[in-house]
Amino acid sequence: AATVRYEAESSPAVCNGTIDSNHTGYSGSGFCNSSNAAGAYNQFTVNAAAAGTASLAIRYAHGATDTRSADIVVNGATVAAASAFPATGGWTSWSTKTVSVPLNAGSNTIRLSASSAAGLANIDYVEV
Ligand code: GCU
Repeated sequence: AATVRYEAESSPAVCNGTIDSNHTGYSGSGFCNSSNAAGAYNQFTVNAAAAGTASLAIRYAHGATDTRSADIVVNGATVAAASAFPATGGWTSWSTKTVSVPLNAGSNTIRLSASSAAGLANIDYVEV
């Protein structure tokens, strides 16, 4: 199936933080700068034509040197704990991280939930 892009800053996505546009190179109208707190999140609602394992591509920037990591929570279940988002070299340097996620047919929620007090990296979008 064709890849669909879901912007971090656009409803039905929820950004637990601020939607910012001060670092260039993002897609859409901005990106999600989550709160710098454990459990801060960016949640997406994605559609799948059929149940099964899907590739989730997450575009992000991490311009600091601390470790950022997130639990990947699909439909309420953590499918990857403390998944690493390595530094990208600058807040305007965007990288894509890919993880496999189990999806139901139809609507699914995917939450990126910060594993530590640093919060998430800045999130631009996910593609499924
Ligand atoms: C800086 C940067 C933000 C980023 C934040 C962070 O303030 O401008 O875009 O989200 O650092 O460390 O999370």
